Amino acid sequence: MSKFSAFAQKAVNSVKFNNPIGEIYDNSVALTPPMGWSSWNLFRNKINEDLIYETAEALKDSGLADCGYKYVNIDDCWQSSMRDKNGRLQGDLSSFPNGIKNLAERVNSLGLKLGIYSSNGTLTCEDLPASLGKEAIDADTFAEWGIEYFKYDFCHNIPISTSAPKIGGITVTDTKTYEETEYNIDSAVLSGEAEIINDKHLRYISGLSSNSGACEFKNIYVRESGEYILTIIVRKSGRNEKHLDILVNGTDIYRTDLPGTKSPTPDGKHQIKIKLSEGENNVKLYNSVASRRDSAAVQYSVMGKELKRATKEYAEKNGCEEKPIVFSICEWGRNFPWQWGSKAGNLWRTTPDILPKWFSVLGIYEFNVMLYKYSGIGSWNDPDMLEVGNGNLTYEENKSHFTLWCMMAAPLILGNDVRKFIKSDGSVDINNPTYKILSNKKLIAVNQDKLGIQCRRVKTNGAEDILVKPLENGEFAVCLFNKAGSLARMECSLKELSSHPFVGVYSSNEFEINELWSDDILSVSDKLETTVPPHGVKIYRVKVM
Ligand code: GAL
Repeated sequence: MSKFSAFAQKAVNSVKFNNPIGEIYDNSVALTPPMGWSSWNLFRNKINEDLIYETAEALKDSGLADCGYKYVNIDDCWQSSMRDKNGRLQGDLSSFPNGIKNLAERVNSLGLKLGIYSSNGTLTCEDLPASLGKEAIDADTFAEWGIEYFKYDFCHNIPISTSAPKIGGITVTDTKTYEETEYNIDSAVLSGEAEIINDKHLRYISGLSSNSGACEFKNIYVRESGEYILTIIVRKSGRNEKHLDILVNGTDIYRTDLPGTKSPTPDGKHQIKIKLSEGENNVKLYNSVASRRDSAAVQYSVMGKELKRATKEYAEKNGCEEKPIVFSICEWGRNFPWQWGSKAGNLWRTTPDILPKWFSVLGIYEFNVMLYKYSGIGSWNDPDMLEVGNGNLTYEENKSHFTLWCMMAAPLILGNDVRKFIKSDGSVDINNPTYKILSNKKLIAVNQDKLGIQCRRVKTNGAEDILVKPLENGEFAVCLFNKAGSLARMECSLKELSSHPFVGVYSSNEFEINELWSDDILSVSDKLETTVPPHGVKIYRVKVM
């Protein structure tokens, strides 16, 4: 086991997480792993609107769009360093002079979809304006532009504080009459480690930090449903920022951050608008964030919710069909996103950035392959974008990289220059080895199988792995992967594999197997024996006869 995967295995096992976000993220897209292209792996910051449009045209003209590659994703460096006068993000004013909305329309007219990128931080990884704290306005902008894929990075992130403020009481103010009602801390119901502290300056409730306690005001009475100002009286303490979750009537959650303080007065006021219903209301104060992992989960889910809200509102306002946005979480696996990503978005990066080098492809595979049980329809492990055709990967390595990503039900986001597949006379270079790999429809069918199951490694001796992936109609895919630098003779028992609980197909004495790179079809009664080239794979689609 490599050093990286030993670390990773340990990380997978040592879990402490409070899981502060709600239901599965359902936006009816990414029901199979998303397929498309991204500008990052090859072009980095050297992008402009012509390159993006030419790529979209090449995807269409080469037939790759028909193979399923539909998302044309602009990664970092599309933004101007200036937001516009309304505080909205805008495309780089010289490299995207016609704006992103115009580009989206042109890409759409080719039958393709435009994707875009930002960071869950104050700046992107390339230090351009980003979306932390600006989720609503940025989601509205993307919805208005017709964006359909959104990758959300993690550079310049500021985690949510695990500290909660000390609460000296609350008041509720009617926004129409300015009538104010005060609720004393003695009327609050305390739970967990929450307790009342008798301080000479201000009596207050303490013990709400790191999800350790809560205080609930159960008797907040208003005559009419509507918007009210909640003023929280706080006992100022400490220079660190504080965070508070406000849960109203068990359903509506408001999250608010309070600045650190050096001010001379002991108490202060923090205000937030909340919606109350006619009659009695319950307002619960606590801080659900107990770790960096909780913080990331909350911050990503905030953006996920804004994207859903924004596309819905845009469609309603403009009387058009809603364009849901595939939400791609990219925090490099740091905060165990496989544990919470399905509640925040559609896919989550599980590892650091891929490089067009064999050790990188292999290291990412070793980690991602262990996470099979977290992937599924609408929520995918993302071992990063493809490097097929980039760098010095050999033909066998490119094939293996693509095959492993197909087996792992990974998003297939191309990272190469697809314009090269179109010859100067306009015809498609169908003999281009990279093109042949990326357009193999039988491999793509394994990736796009409707069951949406990531393969499982059922056998390994360290250098040789056997992977299986259940497919529709009782079929399954078997991949023999040789990581070594020399030819390997590999074998497996199809009887054994077909009756493995993960595959769940009954055993048989006859299997029809299709080798998906050579396209050979054979009938086998049990044992499959073959040679696998160095750093190579053999992949079979198996039918039980
Ligand atoms: C990294 C991310 C890459 C790429 C890059 C852009 O954090 O993992 O895939 O998006 O930022 O700056």
